[in-house]
Amino acid sequence: MVVNHILSAKQFDKKSLGYLFSLADQIKDEKYDKQFLKGKIMATLFYEPSTRTRLSFEAAMQRLGGQVIATESAGEFSSAAKGETLADTIRVVNSYCDVIVLRHPNSGASQEAARFSRVPIINAGDGDGEHPTQALLDLYTINKRCDIESATIVMVGDLKYGRTIHSLSYLLSLYPKVRIIFVSPKDLAIPQTLRRKLQKQKTIFSETENFQETISKADIIYMTRIQKERFKNQKVYQQYFGKFILNAKNLIIVKKKAFIMHPLPRVNEIDPSIDNDRRAIYFEQAQNGLIIRMALLISLFDKHNFNRS
Ligand code: NCD
Repeated sequence: MVVNHILSAKQFDKKSLGYLFSLADQIKDEKYDKQFLKGKIMATLFYEPSTRTRLSFEAAMQRLGGQVIATESAGEFSSAAKGETLADTIRVVNSYCDVIVLRHPNSGASQEAARFSRVPIINAGDGDGEHPTQALLDLYTINKRCDIESATIVMVGDLKYGRTIHSLSYLLSLYPKVRIIFVSPKDLAIPQTLRRKLQKQKTIFSETENFQETISKADIIYMTRIQKERFKNQKVYQQYFGKFILNAKNLIIVKKKAFIMHPLPRVNEIDPSIDNDRRAIYFEQAQNGLIIRMALLISLFDKHNFNRS
């Protein structure tokens, strides 16, 4: 039996992305079987806070006729609080459901879970590792607004701990002509594993600390928050908090045809005063999470699945 776990953005190629995005387009046009997942159950196991990811996964399941069993704050309210290992939890939850959506504070947790699971595991964020389904909706959003192949994408903020950055960069590296500029403090630069992968893929990218100079070059500005929960020392966090802020003042130098994205939640990286600017597409981005996750679920349970070889 082949189990189609979704653990990393590295699993996707242009063909599977094309398939997924066309499925998402059909869903947007209401052209899908609303009972496709009737009789199937999704378990959402969230050991870290979430609004968009969990609710959009649960809504996606229900919009396809499936059902959801859930534990939020799983660290507190599941048997993990009593000392149960992730492996045991996964083994048990397996017998209650057909797919598990897992968010966990440890990088690699979804890989670990997949080793013990007979049902697909979907990585909904593993610590400072990856967040592949966020990257799918991010790329779908970018693809709707501009030609990825000729775009300059500026990613800003906590690039070390920001898992959405890692997964999106892996997807972007599939496009040989894309240009990525990473903007972060030196200490929060992209991890070496990602840097190596981009070099191997011959992706055109550069790294800088200069926010003001860089945003004028962007076709897409992808802002992220400093990942407070990953810092052992909150004084260090405070040092970086508020370092990069997009507001009405510096928006003036951003291209008229550029777009501003953010995986959300934002803290202070984007001033709400620019929310109504036509370049601000972060709420549209979040909306796309629902249809992309519906598309992903359809593809997981479809016997003509892109991943099933
Ligand atoms: C992101 C996450 O959880 O990694 N949020 C999300 O899923 N939309 C980004 C973040 O928390 O900063």
